[in-house]
Amino acid sequence: MKLLSSNGVAKLRKSEGSSNSPVTVHGLSHYFGTGEFRSQVLFNNNLKIEPGKLVVMTGPSGSGKTTLLTLLGAIRTLQEGNLNILGRDVSTLNEEEIIDLRRKIGFIFQMHNLFTSLNAIENVQMTCQGDASEMLKNRSDGIALLNRLGLGKRINYRPSELSGGQRQRVAVARALVGRPKLILADEPTAALDKVSCLEVIGMLKEWANEYGSAVVVVTHDNRILESADRIIKMVDGAIVSDVVLQEVIQICEFMKKLSIFSHLNNSELSLVSEKMTKHPFVRGDVLIQQGDLGEEFFLIRDGEVDVVVDTIKAEVLGSGQCFGERALIGDGKRTATVIAREDGLAYVLTKEWFLHAIASSPNFEMQMKKLYF
Ligand SMILES: Nc1ncnc2c1ncn2[C@@H]1O[C@H](COP(=O)(O)OP(=O)(O)O)[C@@H](O)[C@H]1O
Ligand SMILES: [Mg+2]
Repeated sequence: MKLLSSNGVAKLRKSEGSSNSPVTVHGLSHYFGTGEFRSQVLFNNNLKIEPGKLVVMTGPSGSGKTTLLTLLGAIRTLQEGNLNILGRDVSTLNEEEIIDLRRKIGFIFQMHNLFTSLNAIENVQMTCQGDASEMLKNRSDGIALLNRLGLGKRINYRPSELSGGQRQRVAVARALVGRPKLILADEPTAALDKVSCLEVIGMLKEWANEYGSAVVVVTHDNRILESADRIIKMVDGAIVSDVVLQEVIQICEFMKKLSIFSHLNNSELSLVSEKMTKHPFVRGDVLIQQGDLGEEFFLIRDGEVDVVVDTIKAEVLGSGQCFGERALIGDGKRTATVIAREDGLAYVLTKEWFLHAIASSPNFEMQMKKLYF
């Protein structure tokens, strides 16, 4: 599908990919078994995770969440697709480099696998490496972490002397002590009571905020969803939805204030907002051109644009305002040229989804007709 008719925006889209994402996945597939028993469990997955975000991955049992997570952690061998973790292209790494990469990732699993012969702080320090001064620093970081997780009085306890929730918190401290930029957790709260669950998630969230780490948590736990910045849902080996919550909320807030959307209810609004994609623009970009065929609807998040009709400047639009809808509901041709006055960002909805939104609500259609015809 052609995304945009205007050169200005098409040019910008290419540059969007160049960021320091801790996780970038392209066309990732995976198979188990060999010969006639070979079966595909992951299907062409694409994913990019930004620093500082808590990403929750949900989906039915057997949908491939653990397989995907272990691939992200380089603890399962990549078979097909591109996988870039913490700036390293996994397919190019030798065994030693893979081990080195794993050390930079914090892992938390449901089965905490602590060493029974070591006490809490020793377990936390288990994965730490380095010279004496580094070990000392790790020890003080570890103690601080155990303190923050409410285990300050139990740093010398062995796993057998701790409750399930306490053991899991030790595992969390162990995952965090090296301040990894990527933390992968597979059902970390499944065995926890509500208080421990909220503590663990609160800690992960704080970690993402404080250190800019990306945190991926596989879970069915509804208690965690509230803390998520983004929710990824997997079904049958494929990511079927990927929602950035703050953004959806923000888009909904914008849309509610626009008269063309004012008759959509909340669930219609959130459905439409989930279909919007982000498009940065820079000063001088021609976002739409009068006379061109219109393929997209724009909602401005940041920055201002000039609307020019027949070379005469008609108006200036800014944050929360929209353009591009007339061509989609009219004869298809843009009725104005829109040029960015400054750098900014717009949310874009394809014509297909825009029209879908109209079809999904009789109110919406009526409102549109009142406005434009
Ligand atoms: N080591 C394995 N060998 C063969 N099949 C496996 C293996 N691990 C997982 N599977 C299969 O792969 C699919 C995805 O499993 P998994 O990633 O564990 O899903 P989830 O974590 O979402 O429950 C399932 O059908 C599962 O039976
Ligand atoms: Mg699993």
